[in-house]
Amino acid sequence: MRKKIVAGNWKMNLNKEASLALVNGISDGLPGLSDMVRVIVAPPFVNIPYIQDASNRNARVEVAAQNMHFAESGAYTGEVAADMLQAIGINTVILGHSERREYFKEDAHLLTKKVEQALEHKMEVIFCFGEKLEDRQGGNHFDIVREQLSDSLFHLNDVDWDNIILAYEPVWAIGTGETASPEQAQEMHAFIRNLIEQHYDDEVADRVSILYGGSVKPANAKEIFSKPDVDGGLIGGASLKTEDFLAIINSI
Ligand code: PGA
Repeated sequence: MRKKIVAGNWKMNLNKEASLALVNGISDGLPGLSDMVRVIVAPPFVNIPYIQDASNRNARVEVAAQNMHFAESGAYTGEVAADMLQAIGINTVILGHSERREYFKEDAHLLTKKVEQALEHKMEVIFCFGEKLEDRQGGNHFDIVREQLSDSLFHLNDVDWDNIILAYEPVWAIGTGETASPEQAQEMHAFIRNLIEQHYDDEVADRVSILYGGSVKPANAKEIFSKPDVDGGLIGGASLKTEDFLAIINSI
């Protein structure tokens, strides 16, 4: 059975002290959590080692990176390689976030290379994708999602999919306070699982965790997570507050 996952994407927030307070607060709030639930936090690179040390106190909090480069090493000023992450024990990376696509011009070609590099290193990828407001309004959202998945993921083999977590994040719902309704999330997640079944088989489709992201908060998490094809959430703003993040985890 696929596990439930609640992942906090801290983005470019919190310095060392503030992020340590947050991870300690989360760890302290987790005893009793089912083994079927994974909790992941993704701090900025510079804070990863501190957060890891703190989370080692309570093995329930896993640490992921928010990004990585596609090359093994080399002249890429400011970038971080898969090998560097793995050498400090980071085996999960978020790729394809809409902010990376929008502000850093990461396109399908680049993202495909990043996904391949991560999988070559046997890293786990939280792959983000989702339509923009105009796509939703124009009724193209299913086509856009199909294209994003097929561009970057549908050339992978069945075994590769053991290391893929999907995060459907409609861009119009990220950081806007606007959330997809639980029905809209379920509809898209079922569509995605069906696409995977068509390209692979029902076993692969059944195994992959599909997270929802976009203004998830304590007030709406339970209803969104109650949908059969929603396996958890990728949380931005609400993952920065201990109480909110714990409340979201407890909604799963
Ligand atoms: P949000 O961000 O929860 O603040 O909308 C979600 C994300 O960007 O992953």
